[in-house]
Amino acid sequence: MTSELIIKSKNKENKYLELLPQIESLVADENDLTANLANIAAALKQAFNFFWVGFYFVKSNNENQQLVLGPFQGPIACTRIDKGKGACGVAWQDKKTILLPDVNKFSQHIACNVLSKSEIVVPILKDGNVYIVLDIDSDKLDDFDNIDQKYLEKLALFIGCLLEN
Ligand code: SME
Repeated sequence: MTSELIIKSKNKENKYLELLPQIESLVADENDLTANLANIAAALKQAFNFFWVGFYFVKSNNENQQLVLGPFQGPIACTRIDKGKGACGVAWQDKKTILLPDVNKFSQHIACNVLSKSEIVVPILKDGNVYIVLDIDSDKLDDFDNIDQKYLEKLALFIGCLLEN
């Protein structure tokens, strides 16, 4: 059962420090990945009021793999992204975080919503392979920094541990 999310800090790092243990408790008694990712997206949105927070799953159809939209919070978004395309597809291909202070300066960027100004994408790996990407968009320029990267990468490691063998 869930309880209410409580974030008292105003400082970003302290917010993450309050949020991450609550996310761990939130998913502790539930083993359905979709349900857990839906609540994690909601918790991130609630704590930081990001413009868009969501997950894309690496999915296979025939020989081809694509990112397919998963649980999210925010305006409607692109449903499929190819490997190497967009910030999400590059994070998947390179297996590393992409931090865009200004999305319009990244030629690969896919604009699902014109209001999105800055973005961070964190891949979620298990056994060296990317299974999911966490994508967060802000409607403000330069809204993400190394603090977001540090704690979102910790969150990505945690989510990686939730993935079934
Ligand atoms: N901007 C992303 C696409 C996903 S949406 O922002 C939700 C990208 O460039 O991959």
